[in-house]
Amino acid sequence: MGKLAPSILSADFAALGDQAESVSAAGADYIHVDVMDGHFVPNISFGAAVMKSLNKRETAPYDVHLMIESPDRYIADFITEKTEFITVHQEACIHLHRTIQNIKNCGIKAGVSINPATPVSVLDCILEDVDLILVMSVNPGFGGQKFIPGAIEKIRQLHRLRQERDLAFVIEVDGGITLDNTDAVKQAGCDIFVAGSSVFGAEDIEKRVKDFKVLLD
Ligand code: DX5
Ligand code: ZN
Repeated sequence: MGKLAPSILSADFAALGDQAESVSAAGADYIHVDVMDGHFVPNISFGAAVMKSLNKRETAPYDVHLMIESPDRYIADFITEKTEFITVHQEACIHLHRTIQNIKNCGIKAGVSINPATPVSVLDCILEDVDLILVMSVNPGFGGQKFIPGAIEKIRQLHRLRQERDLAFVIEVDGGITLDNTDAVKQAGCDIFVAGSSVFGAEDIEKRVKDFKVLLD
């Protein structure tokens, strides 16, 4: 069964707590937390303080996506009782193995993400060490972009590698996910589906979460 991780990047920030609670109550498996620094990506979103405020609310666990340079400097800031995954970008980490170990040593599941122009092959030596691989299906930086179909082949490759090497990492997709393309991505072997604008842009947010969950079942 696929899991849904609504991205609060597309939420109404003035009603963030309420919206995070309502998607969680409707069945969201994670709250996807998109952190952008204006350097690794051409946009600034929010930092750990915003995420920590959500700790006071009844939400699903956090799936933190760090689209930032030098992520090692900030890992500790994003650890809360609700943080399940912290994912960094392969393109932002010179010493990726060390960064992954740093996250795991904090007792948090570690993920690595690749941009649309980055091949799966760069992850060859880290597959054994990661808990999650996030395939970007848009260029990171903004919500509401169009799905780049090349992501599907990457997910297939990862799914195959996972079987061949008997590994346990989960595969996540992020960017341009809609009710229309979810099934094709699921067939490729994806486990966690990030959806921003297609959840928070819906007229009835809770119904949209439920519609996704039916498709992912
Ligand atoms: C893009 C972010 C995504 C984004 C997805 O840089 O990492 O998580 O919020 O938004 P949609 O689903 O609108 O493409
Ligand atoms: Zn994201």
